Amino acid sequence: MRVLGIESSCDETAASVVEDGYRLLSTVVASSMDLHVQYGGVVPEIAARSHIEVINSVVDQAITDAGCTWDDIDAIAVTYGPGLGGSLLIGVMTARTLAIVHNKPLYAINHVEAHVYANFLTASSQGQEPRGASLASVSSNKTDTSADDGPRGMPYALPSQQPAFPLLALIVSGGHTQLALFRHHFDYTLLGETGDDAIGEAFDKVAKIIGLPYPGGPSISRKALAGNPKAFQLPKSRLTSVSPALEQLRSNTVTALKQPSKGPDFNPSPNLQASSVSYDFSFSGLKTAVLRLAQELIGADHTFPSKDLPERLSETQKADIAASFQYVAIETVVDKTVAAYTEFGPASVVIAGGVAANQELRRQLAERLSIPVTYTDSRLCTDNGAMIATLGCFHMKYGRPTADPYTLAISPNLSM
Ligand code: KG4
Ligand code: ZN
Repeated sequence: MRVLGIESSCDETAASVVEDGYRLLSTVVASSMDLHVQYGGVVPEIAARSHIEVINSVVDQAITDAGCTWDDIDAIAVTYGPGLGGSLLIGVMTARTLAIVHNKPLYAINHVEAHVYANFLTASSQGQEPRGASLASVSSNKTDTSADDGPRGMPYALPSQQPAFPLLALIVSGGHTQLALFRHHFDYTLLGETGDDAIGEAFDKVAKIIGLPYPGGPSISRKALAGNPKAFQLPKSRLTSVSPALEQLRSNTVTALKQPSKGPDFNPSPNLQASSVSYDFSFSGLKTAVLRLAQELIGADHTFPSKDLPERLSETQKADIAASFQYVAIETVVDKTVAAYTEFGPASVVIAGGVAANQELRRQLAERLSIPVTYTDSRLCTDNGAMIATLGCFHMKYGRPTADPYTLAISPNLSM
């Protein structure tokens, strides 16, 4: 079974072919990031125009790199939400057209769920090495997806086997911060999510405050290497909210988790009924605390314009802010992940999304969890087509409903 995955929810135009839900045959990513850097964030109109310019060549290259022709493709999977409306439209219209022209089943994919499925791509133990996997970083003003500024041909560091259920997933990216407990494919409970900024968004905003380039995640973590993570005490949000889904899971654990059709048996932790932990997140207070700290460090009050802060802060102050912010932001998501692990005792813990590339996150989880954490190659943590194709394979395998290629609509606010 070979599925073509198409992703265009933000600023990456991506396509990939995945076989049987674990074997990566190709992955092509064209990013318009270069065009957004000067604005300090993604400009939706520019992203949408970039998708139009490159999507056909990205799809063609993914099929060619996989050593396939259209005859070898069994289905098309496409992100239909959540994301930027204009960006989603390009991917969905492309996938709909291709599904009609080539007469292939079409699967509508939730982008956030798909991030988790990047972890189901495995290395050789379950199959052969990726054949033509390539990654091109292409500015949208070029249509040549084989541009030479991406690390083409570098082998992908994939997990040796697929994560087991029940699976606890921490999804952390520029648009999402979620903790979800998967009992099996297509059967999960969202334990909590952010009520304001996503963690990656907080990295991006803090980077802007201290004058580091977009995207903030990689630039903050680089700067943090020279700083002291304990230099400043920054606040962690203290939330008490518990969603009805989590409440139901807590009050009805044994029946909810031990349904025979729902995969492997599960032994709920004895702590389960007692826990009242909230798995919701908030990062806007932390971002404001960084702004106030930076103003204080230069001896200004809260009216001082943030755009003038970078030139007044010393490099040492910037490094200490980056390190202290990163430490507490990461510790916040690690605290909740450890609490959920303790409460639900899952068989595996996976991290997904752009922030899953963060080394401090991987370090803190390794230190605090008693089982190894599953994560994939950093290039598959950020947005890509392979995660869409992989989840598409499972839609097909489990006989999930197909989408109508004549009517599939985008869903920019789709939740998990
Ligand atoms: O998954 P992704 O490519 O897009 C969304 O679906 O949002 O994630 C992008 C986000 C950005 O906010 C970026 O700053 C963050 O992931 N990011 C990182 C790192 N690499 C990317 N954050 C922290 N540490 C990193 N190494
Ligand atoms: Zn994403």
